[in-house]
Formats: sequence, C-alpha cells, structure tokens
Amino acid sequence: METIRMLVDNNLNCEKSYAQAVDLLNDGEVVAFPTETVYGLGAVATDEKGVRKIFEAKGRPSDNPLIVHIGTIEEVSNFIEEIPENALKLMNTFWPGPLTVIMKAKKGLLAPSVTAGLTTVGMRMPNHDVALQLLRKLKKPVAAPSANRSGKPSPTKAIHVEEDLQGRIPLILDGGATGIGIESTVLDVTVNPPVILRPGGVTKEMLEEVIGEVIQPTKSQETLDTTPKAPGMKYTHYAPNAPVLLIESDQAFVGEAIHELRNEGHKIALLAPLSFENIGADYFFPYGDEGDKEMMSSKLYDDLRACDKTEATIILATTTSTEGVGAAIMNRLEKAAGGKWYNR
Ligand code: TXA
Ligand code: MG
Repeated sequence: METIRMLVDNNLNCEKSYAQAVDLLNDGEVVAFPTETVYGLGAVATDEKGVRKIFEAKGRPSDNPLIVHIGTIEEVSNFIEEIPENALKLMNTFWPGPLTVIMKAKKGLLAPSVTAGLTTVGMRMPNHDVALQLLRKLKKPVAAPSANRSGKPSPTKAIHVEEDLQGRIPLILDGGATGIGIESTVLDVTVNPPVILRPGGVTKEMLEEVIGEVIQPTKSQETLDTTPKAPGMKYTHYAPNAPVLLIESDQAFVGEAIHELRNEGHKIALLAPLSFENIGADYFFPYGDEGDKEMMSSKLYDDLRACDKTEATIILATTTSTEGVGAAIMNRLEKAAGGKWYNR
C-alpha cells in the first residue's frame, strides 16, 4: 500500500484532503491525523473492520482499548450509559483539550475491538483544528490510538508517523508538529474519587480545582490489584533502540557520568536542558531552557526518536520535578528507561 502524506494548513485550501480522509474512513480504512497531544491513527469507532486495521498497522495487542474522539460534547450521550456529574463538569471545562474521560459504555454500539472486552470507554474531544474539522465533517466518532508502531515513542510530527507506518496505512494528514507532545490525561470517573490512569497535560491540580479529590496513584499503589489501571500502561513504551538511563539534572554529575561511560566504550546521547550543551556528550538533544516543562514535553518524543538516528549506545536523560505537567513527563521518561537510573 502506498502511504500519502497531505499537508493540511490553515493557509491552504484543504477541502479535497478532508474529503479524501472522510471517504477513506467511511470505507472502513484508517487515517492518521494530528491532535494537540500526538498524532492519532483513526478509524470509524462503530466499524469493527476499520478498527481492526488500526491494531494491525500498529502491531498493537488486542487487549488494549482505544480512545474514542468526538467533535462535539453532545455526541457523548450517544455512547455513554449515564454521564456522571463530575464528568460533565470536566468536559465543559477542559474540552476541547488533552483529557480523556473513562465512563460506562452503552452496550453494542461501538466496535468490540474499541473497548477490548471492557464495559467502559474513554472519550475525548481534541483541541486541534485539523482533528476537529475531520471529526465534524465525518460526523462519526473516531477511535484512535497514537499513530506509532507499538512500543515506539508517540509521533509528534507527520514524518514520525511516516517512519513507523509507511506502506501500512493509506493517508497521513500532515498538520505540522503537535503542541503538547505527550498524550492526554486518562481519568477514570467510574470510581469515586476518580483515578488518573495516565498523567498528561491536564494535571491533578487542574482536575481537583473543578471536581475536588482525584487520586494519582504512587508507583507502589500502581502495582496493587485494587488500583484501576489502563490496560496499555503495562506494555513497553516510548523506547528508543539504545537503552535509556535517567539521571539527576546536575551538570557536574552528568559530566562525570559521560566521562565514566565513555571509558567503558560507550557513545553517549544526552537529553538535557540547553545549558548542558558543552559538557561533552557525543550527541546532544536539548529539552529547552532549564525548568521549561512545556518545551520539554513538546520535544521529548522527537528527541527520543532522534537518538535512533545516531550511533549512540546509551542515552542519558535528565529528569525534572513531578510538579504540574512534570508528573506526565516523568511517567513517560520512566517508561522509556524501563525504570533504570544511572548509577556511579
Ligand atoms: O492524547 C492521546 O490520548 C492520544 C491522541 C491520539 O488522542 N491517544 C492515545 O491513545 O494516546 P493510546 O491508545 O496510545 O493510549 C490510550 C491509553 C492506553 O493506555 C489505554 O490502555 C487506555 O488509554 N485506555 C483506553 N480505554 C480505556 C478504558 N476503557 N479503560 C482504561 N484505560 C483505557
Ligand atoms: Mg500510544
């Protein structure tokens, strides 16, 4: 299959591109499109044949459910048994935006593979002009995971989608680089208090301002059977080819680590704030200015992917505090590193 990448930009007349995407989706095909978080790979959420193609193209395990994307809040009630009051407040506050709300699904409406055997479904309205135009022209819900091959970092540029899925999907709508750069917050409101299954751009603090107490499980709570989980969080994620080691954001310490690792014969890629540029890594990928978490989250996956284009044998990634969006960044970094830290 030939994969076509089409530029969709506010300054261009894109009606034909959208029409082609809508036709493909209506014909049971998959289409990649940008959202404000990462690129998604979509199919009509009520079409089992189309949805299965998502799992095939990504190499995604079939027990991992998909998020359903919609273009208007009104559509939620078509697919949800009963919308809890707190969920409604959150949707009114944060949609369109990077918040996925897990609720009880109406039976028999969505394609079975979307929910992967669960009785619940995650819904979100993305805050991206291309995604919203596509959804509103299609007038159907779109099931979409991130548009990467399973295990790889999520795509934040159309070229990342192309690298992973070239020849496996017919169309990529190219809307440039996504803004936030890491996936939406996934919040389960079927339990009380609601539980964050995956931290993201909408932080615990922001949620609590609207609905009161929200649980963000600690690492040890995450392993308990009684803690609600996203099925996808147990799989390897965001992993470049070379091993990633986390390291404290301290220039002297990172400098020593580079020296030690080089003595062991390693070539080192360093992901760190701009000020770490001249401390001697073989390859340097800056997050942005020290403490600029928005920049760090928007660049993280691009940087991790860029490491695969180097000869690095080890990747050092400096960490950040878990305040605000830092919780989501550290969640992804720990997954990329498989929990491993640099030890002297
Ligand atoms: O920002 C995002 O959320 C992006 C864009 C494309 O919207 N999508 C995304 O989808 O990250 P995906 O499939 O890569 O991640 C969805 C996560 C998975 O960990 C999945 O297991 C979890 O959400 N999830 C989906 N439905 C669920 C449900 N009913 N219950 C618990 N977890 C669910
Ligand atoms: Mg994903």
